[in-house]
Amino acid sequence: MCGIVGYIGQKEAWPIIVKGLKRLEYRGYDSAGIALVAQGINSYKKAGKVTDLEAFAEGKDLRGRVGIGHTRWATHGEPSDRNAHPHFSEDERLAIVHNGIIENYATLKEELASRGHTFKSDTDTEVLIHLIADIMEAENTDLLEAVRIALTQVVGAYAIVIADREHPNQLVAARKGSPMVIGIGEKEYFIASDASPIIEYTRNVVYLKDQEIAFISDDALLLKNIDNEVQTPYIQKLEMHLEMLEKAGYEHFMLKEIHEQPRSIRDCMRGRIYPQEGKVQLGGIKEYAEKLRNADRIIIVACGTSWHAGLVGEYLIEEYARVPVGVEYASEFRYRNPIITEKDIVIAISQSGETADTMAAVELAKERGATILGICNVVGSSIPRLTHGGVYTHAGPEIGVASTKAFTAQVTVLTLIALYTAQLRGTLPQSKLVELLTALEDAPLLVERALKCDEATQYIASEIKDSTNAIFLGRGIGFPVALEGALKLKEISYIHAEGYPAAEMKHGPIALIDKEMPVVVIATKNSSYEKVISNIQEVKARKGRVIAIVTEGDTAVRELADYVIEIPDAEEALLPLLATVPLQLLSYHTALLRGCNVDQPRNLAKSVTVE
Ligand code: G6P
Repeated sequence: MCGIVGYIGQKEAWPIIVKGLKRLEYRGYDSAGIALVAQGINSYKKAGKVTDLEAFAEGKDLRGRVGIGHTRWATHGEPSDRNAHPHFSEDERLAIVHNGIIENYATLKEELASRGHTFKSDTDTEVLIHLIADIMEAENTDLLEAVRIALTQVVGAYAIVIADREHPNQLVAARKGSPMVIGIGEKEYFIASDASPIIEYTRNVVYLKDQEIAFISDDALLLKNIDNEVQTPYIQKLEMHLEMLEKAGYEHFMLKEIHEQPRSIRDCMRGRIYPQEGKVQLGGIKEYAEKLRNADRIIIVACGTSWHAGLVGEYLIEEYARVPVGVEYASEFRYRNPIITEKDIVIAISQSGETADTMAAVELAKERGATILGICNVVGSSIPRLTHGGVYTHAGPEIGVASTKAFTAQVTVLTLIALYTAQLRGTLPQSKLVELLTALEDAPLLVERALKCDEATQYIASEIKDSTNAIFLGRGIGFPVALEGALKLKEISYIHAEGYPAAEMKHGPIALIDKEMPVVVIATKNSSYEKVISNIQEVKARKGRVIAIVTEGDTAVRELADYVIEIPDAEEALLPLLATVPLQLLSYHTALLRGCNVDQPRNLAKSVTVE
């Protein structure tokens, strides 16, 4: 994780880097630092957010048209000023910012220490810059070549940018495993972990490939690979717009993104569904239609919220396409010796397209001959580049660390894949496909109606804000919704919350229920409605406080529950899209009332590029 920004050109670097780092804070916000190259290198770093760095640097010399910056999610070494990037070579000639992990840093550090190097921080990054400086001196090479040689000795993942005091008009950047984009302006270059810091300056970008090294001066960009072969930069046009990265009048990105869901779901379906014909068209996977038709099994790999979307996918694909589906935590899957055959389809779900464990699971399944499809949000990110085919969610940039619109877009894509596979395998009558797609077409409008529960969720949030625990219950397709609701609450309000299958409650969690315990139940009118009512009764019998998500007009649950939130009546397949919305708002309001930082919850990062 961590975010990095570099600038070289004609403008002052500090404001560009600060602004860029703020856009990248979703990648980590334990500390921030910037080094400016002018007459020598001036470096400022501080534990905390980019605003803490700004306050610290106020009144200091911030001149320089070349600079590198970093916002950190701590891996090696506690979050502190000392461990904040940039890090320096022993003679302070070279400064580096780094995203990723150098796995063999301990061995390298020992070797360097035996040659007299001393280190000021606990980070793997400082070891890397010492190694580069060591090679420069020993081999008498320039920085570019020293970086290349050093990277042949490094095990792990990295995106790095290095500034050199002796050559103030150049930067060297490289990547493996961690993302990096170079924006090309007029006599200026922007380097960043993603395109968001670049978008307001230029639309022309080069996505650095794995093990590519870039030499950048204010009027030239040279790319080499690790084998020292010159590469031709492939310039792409950014399709993102600046407004997508701003709050558009909302108090928080999370709230904006919750309210964007009718739009993001609509964008996700655009050009893909033909309800009257009962047809789904998915261009990104149509080449694999034969594989989907004949697949013995589908394995879904993902982490976090994306894993919850995967569980919804399991339900929908099994229900409609009748293919067995297994949903795996990518981090577990990759360290087992999973049984994968060439007939398997593996679907990797990832908002960022950069999650290290999901990437590793994809690589493993690919090695073993499976067909890999991706469901990702960030266009051009690493996972879509690794997979055979895929379906983008087109939810637009998601900035809030807690995922909201990306989840509902992933669920939408999974619904499309379920129906597409059903269409291929002939497991649903045409009339049913027409019915389901017609219902799906209405999903954006129904989600808009579901969003009307803002006031109700605000009130309930005020009632539960002092709780220390909460339970979320659901059955069938409502179970992953309960898991997602619990994850949202714990991520941003720090209330401990568990999602459980409603019927399993009696095998353990029921022991926790007392009059203090809020129990959120997905109790909409679907196939498990009656059973869920019995579960609510079990909670009420133990004096639990029931918050029920019900179908509009419901009376039976209303009589039992302490609080109800209504969502529109709809086809069961739409339940996850609709029932998730009030749970997102409930978490949002609870976190606000508890004074939490909704968009940047403690210890979390949006893009988890470490194992
Ligand atoms: C982090 C984020 C979660 C996200 C998970 C998987 O933990 O905080 O919101 O669900 O990573 O990320 P991905 O980008 O692969 O969906």
